[in-house]
Amino acid sequence: MANALPNVRILPTAAQALPLLMDELRGTQLRRGLLGLATGATFVPFLQALGDELRTGRMRAEELHATHLDEYLGFTPDRRGGMVHELGTNCPPLLELLARGRFFPVPHDGEPLSLKAHELRVHRAGGVHLQLLGIGRNGHVAFNEPGTPFETGFHVTTLAPTTREDARSRFAPGEPPTQAVTSGLQTILGARKLVLCAFGKAKAKAVAAMLQGEISTACPASVIRRHTNVMVFLDKDAASELVGHHGA
Ligand code: GLP
Repeated sequence: MANALPNVRILPTAAQALPLLMDELRGTQLRRGLLGLATGATFVPFLQALGDELRTGRMRAEELHATHLDEYLGFTPDRRGGMVHELGTNCPPLLELLARGRFFPVPHDGEPLSLKAHELRVHRAGGVHLQLLGIGRNGHVAFNEPGTPFETGFHVTTLAPTTREDARSRFAPGEPPTQAVTSGLQTILGARKLVLCAFGKAKAKAVAAMLQGEISTACPASVIRRHTNVMVFLDKDAASELVGHHGA
């Protein structure tokens, strides 16, 4: 028996999610809390649009605090292939926020004290009000791989083989990293609102497991169904394995 779906919008194309994401951004009280960014190809258009908003002053950088989900272990913000590097490349104003202490990078050293300090810093800034999320094709969110308990905070994790394969091109000709520092599933559920995006056929099975499978650590993304304020944007390919879905 399939579970009830959270708020899901199935769009003809991924590009149609951008204005909806921008509406989510504008509808969030970011003066009182943080914007939680996600990385991956899914969010590149959004990050570029956020960069335009900040550069042109349509969105005031002074009113924005931001953070993100995860980082490869040992990757400093200037290191190519890393998550902060990716965020700054797609949205350069984030680097200015970083320099001014308004963008909180995930501690790349993964040390328990650094992770505690990061969690405290996020909490003191009002917590994450809008957390963007992607999904891995094995159902991971951030770098919470299948089998990760739901009750976790920031921690160091070992990447699944499919996750490393998906990251291979960003490290070529070198090898992709084996470990990362990630926000935990409990931390993610602590955000006021979650907006998850998934586009493309490669995500279809993970999306069906997330929305219609059991809520289980076998599909970490299924944990979003325990949150009461979730929006999911899918393109029709990512939605193609949902039972009862007959096209966008
Ligand atoms: C990485 C990130 C995830 C992201 C995933 C999907 O694994 N840690 O947060 O959701 O990539 O990336 P893409 O959007 O490129 O498919």
